[in-house]
Amino acid sequence: MSKSLYIKTFGCQMNERDSEIIEQLLAQEGYVPADRAEGADVVLINTCSIREKAEQKVFSLLGQLRDEKARNPSLLLGVIGCVAQQEGERIRDRMPHVDLIVGTQQIYRLPEMLARLEQRVTSREIAINLEASFHIPPFQKLLVNASPFPASSGFKRFVTIMQGCNNYCSYCVVPGTRGREISRPMADIIEEVEILASQGVKEITLLGQNVNSYGLTNPVADLTVSFPELLRRVASINGLQRLRFTTSHPKDLSEDLMRCFAEIDILCPHFHLPVQSGSNAVLKRMNRKYTIETYLEKVAGLRRFCPEIALATDIIVGFPGETEEDFQATLELLSLVRFHGSFSFKYSDRPHTHSVNFLDKIPEEVKSRRLLAFQTLQDAIGLERNAECIDKEVEVMLEVCAGDDCKGRTPAHQMVHFNRQGLPLAPGDLVTVKINQAGKHSLKGDIHLKH
Ligand code: SAH
Ligand code: SF4
Ligand code: F3S
Repeated sequence: MSKSLYIKTFGCQMNERDSEIIEQLLAQEGYVPADRAEGADVVLINTCSIREKAEQKVFSLLGQLRDEKARNPSLLLGVIGCVAQQEGERIRDRMPHVDLIVGTQQIYRLPEMLARLEQRVTSREIAINLEASFHIPPFQKLLVNASPFPASSGFKRFVTIMQGCNNYCSYCVVPGTRGREISRPMADIIEEVEILASQGVKEITLLGQNVNSYGLTNPVADLTVSFPELLRRVASINGLQRLRFTTSHPKDLSEDLMRCFAEIDILCPHFHLPVQSGSNAVLKRMNRKYTIETYLEKVAGLRRFCPEIALATDIIVGFPGETEEDFQATLELLSLVRFHGSFSFKYSDRPHTHSVNFLDKIPEEVKSRRLLAFQTLQDAIGLERNAECIDKEVEVMLEVCAGDDCKGRTPAHQMVHFNRQGLPLAPGDLVTVKINQAGKHSLKGDIHLKH
């Protein structure tokens, strides 16, 4: 009889990709996906620790699952991901109903760890593995016979090209939870993308905390190349129609990478370049290692090579010591660069980071007021940016349809709603849409019918 597996994923795209890999690895061991925790044989929580709220969600879900475990004692409950890595020992001590705790670099060992747990003799044996590993196995080879992704989501996939981060921004848990930066050998990445493309995948997003430094810090340096070289090589794989990457650190953004936007056809004109703050004083305390002046030079460089490039960013408001002037500088930066979109967060104290010890913490109500002011301005700019598309024809890659109502994304990553007028379209198809309406976060238009 087959066993069922439910995975709940929090956090970033790297966690999403890890969950997919785990699902596929375990499918080979006979696990079938379950759509809820109730009644599943194995429940895994893939956790995120980036802000306090993200971590709270994990602990509240673990609390809820205590009842499920009481109802169904044979359930195996596992915690993986960044909270597992950081709080593993504490979870073991405080959450005795958890059976399995696996760190961010040990997910490939889940099949054998679960197999051992299934055969355990005593009722309270917990499997825990938080070790660091400087190696991402070429797992994709093992998955050639795994069932392909469903057509509705199978047309676009993430591919992890590196793990960890060496930047130590003063507010950030990632160097602690994901460990030192390590690049995967190019051959493994190419092989993974080739397999995905042969299964019908049309869009690939290369993933890393700082893809710009791909190949720079690598224990097997001779097996990797620079990030622009990797991009060129991936872009040449047959069948791919769109290529993206995330995330980039501004300090490592080279002119060679900028040039890729002019030279690689399938590289989408969309760049997520987190700035975090518009104030040099704050950037310094954040340990970001660039100034606003150099950030703006990089923005200008990108626009020189690719005038239509859509820029997006991340912002933290209320970093310790952020003055009203510092915050105004962030708003000014917004008006100057006119980002297509942004993710904005209130600063959150995280364990084992430098900034946790900084003085002059900003009160919650000030952070909330600044976040609202930031988002109000960003929404207005986002709307103006989207309005620039009105009356233009854009290429849309279809994501889903409900009846004739469809949505998909432009190369610049804008969401477009349109009616397919009875046309037989499938997810991953490219269509041309003439835009007639713009909102803050999406566009609307009419499909261009071929005659
Ligand atoms: N590696 C990426 C992103 C990492 S996390 C990068 O360097 O850009 C995603 C975003 O979460 C960050 O860009 C930052 O804006 C936000 N973030 C990270 N730590 C935070 C904290 N302690 N409080 C609030 N936001 C945080
Ligand atoms: Fe965190 Fe900075 Fe690394 Fe991004 S670059 S993951 S913000 S330490
Ligand atoms: Fe969260 Fe870990 Fe990603 S902390 S943002 S899941 S790297």
